[in-house]
Amino acid sequence: MSHEGGEPVVVERRRALKILTTLSFIFGLGSLLSLLKSVTAPQLEIPEWPKLRLANIKDLKENTWYLFSYPIADIPCILVKLGKAVPEGVGPDKDIVGYVMICQHARYYGTIYIPPKDKRDPNILTYLKTVPPNILELYPEKNMLYCPAHAALYDLEERGSVLTGPPFCSLCRVLLEYDEASGDIYAVSLAPPAPAVPGVTQCSTNPEELKRIMLGKRLLSETLLTEKV
Ligand code: FES
Repeated sequence: MSHEGGEPVVVERRRALKILTTLSFIFGLGSLLSLLKSVTAPQLEIPEWPKLRLANIKDLKENTWYLFSYPIADIPCILVKLGKAVPEGVGPDKDIVGYVMICQHARYYGTIYIPPKDKRDPNILTYLKTVPPNILELYPEKNMLYCPAHAALYDLEERGSVLTGPPFCSLCRVLLEYDEASGDIYAVSLAPPAPAVPGVTQCSTNPEELKRIMLGKRLLSETLLTEKV
């Protein structure tokens, strides 16, 4: 069928023009989007938690507190071999745990480790003289972290939960890994705190948020474990 000199030729040309216009709009928009993407501020990538060697199992004594920083220099942490197996414990006896030492009440940094009563040698653990005697009588079987600021006690055998005092949240835990072949112990990440009692909303329990806050800083590439006396 010939369309020479007739209206159908004009209609076909118009349709072709329309298709071309549409295609050029789509491709043009695509280029515009990629251009916009390239000029928008880049999203900072959140790095992975660093894996840092802390110690070898041979270096650790029971019911002794060891200090280190993780994952940045400003975050003081404690490592303890509790002397009794706990669900999150690592090592051959499943009794090694790690926590961020910062109190969850008002962010006090100077928290103190209290071992079970029968492990407290007053000649070695002289720092226990700074803890009020009535506090030392509480929970005599437990490994605890004490906050002198407002007399809080945390349970190091129960995921850092609050035993007494004003904190709304448990301690932040340092997740550990144990290499059976070498005996080395590593810090591999942090776990967020949990509400001290059900319904408490003051805790930031979101692991991704914790990661974003912590890993936006200058990460350590190594850390030093020191015995605290
Ligand atoms: S800051 Fe630790 S109990 Fe208040």
